[in-house]
Amino acid sequence: MGYLETYFDRLLPIIEADLRSVLTPPEEAPALPYRMLHYHMGWVDAHGNPIEGKRGKRLRPAITLLACEASGSHYDAARPAGAAVELIHNFSLLHDDVQDQSQTRHGRATTWTIWGANQAINTGDMMYALANLAIRRLSGQGTDPALLARQVFLVNDTCLELTRGQHLDMAFETRDEVSVEEYLDMISGKTGALTATSAQIGAIAAGASAEVCEHYRQFGFNLGMAFQIQDDILDIWGDEQQTGKQAAIDIYQRKKSLPVLYGLAQSESLRALYRDYPVFAAAEVSQVIMRLDEVDARGYARELVQRYTSQTLEHLRAAKPAEEAGQALLELVGMLLNRQK
Ligand code: IPE
Ligand code: IPE
Ligand code: MG
Ligand code: MG
Ligand code: MG
Repeated sequence: MGYLETYFDRLLPIIEADLRSVLTPPEEAPALPYRMLHYHMGWVDAHGNPIEGKRGKRLRPAITLLACEASGSHYDAARPAGAAVELIHNFSLLHDDVQDQSQTRHGRATTWTIWGANQAINTGDMMYALANLAIRRLSGQGTDPALLARQVFLVNDTCLELTRGQHLDMAFETRDEVSVEEYLDMISGKTGALTATSAQIGAIAAGASAEVCEHYRQFGFNLGMAFQIQDDILDIWGDEQQTGKQAAIDIYQRKKSLPVLYGLAQSESLRALYRDYPVFAAAEVSQVIMRLDEVDARGYARELVQRYTSQTLEHLRAAKPAEEAGQALLELVGMLLNRQK
């Protein structure tokens, strides 16, 4: 068994238990708002019956706990922060599915398609508030208040970056042209900021030096950039059965994902499609993908994934991680490089 598998076997149940403890309703609370939260987390169906096997990867808290161990402390020190980053991530997904009009996630109907956009937004707001409370609720009595304040600040600052990125992501839908630099800035906000914080906050919880914390931040940032570009690739060329998301939803939504903006810069016939069809149906989406294949937009995007992955590995090396957790992080990067979901 590899280091990562061993860690995942150990850490994932702990992460899940922490998330459940933060999302446990107080006795007097009405059940439905919490059912919506639990539904989104993949714990229950729409009727509140327990389900298994249809949940998120819990990638961000795994990174937090591993970065903590790799910085020389037991992962327990990073558990509150790990829960917080995962809940922030899920707050953003609840809202993102409304914003992107996505019907499915992890092969299940999205929360908004069941209870409506208004309730899904409210559920996202609950998740956001609980993410902030998680750090205090899960921290031991004796935790240094300055350390708590630093973690809460970092989480909130990250949310600001994330919403800036989401703003650009939506604004770009109606723009004819978006440069690669603008795209990278957009994904650095919507995705890179939280993965950067997920790694950094683990090192902070471990009491690592400023220099080591910064290497973990850069590690998480570059990993997130590679991860988002892969997400763009999987949207177009992935297998719906594996991703659990509707195929080509980015194209329908006219997202300026990396393959699309590269294609627009390379292909006059692709530009013409975007000019001539203000709304895409299935036939136009197939046309768009054909044009993207003609200019090998997938190959272009893959090269960028490689570049960000190399930088991820450089920062991991520079952080001088402790043996086993460091190996697990290395394996995690390798696993993500070839991911299909
Ligand atoms: C989805 O993230 C949103 C992106 C940043 C691309 P994940 O693919 O990590 O989603 P979960 O956690 O598995 O649901
Ligand atoms: C996700 O971007 C970024 C955030 C949720 C902040 P996407 O919109 O590409 O994520 P998916 O593909 O819906 O998971
Ligand atoms: Mg989306
Ligand atoms: Mg989106
Ligand atoms: Mg996507």
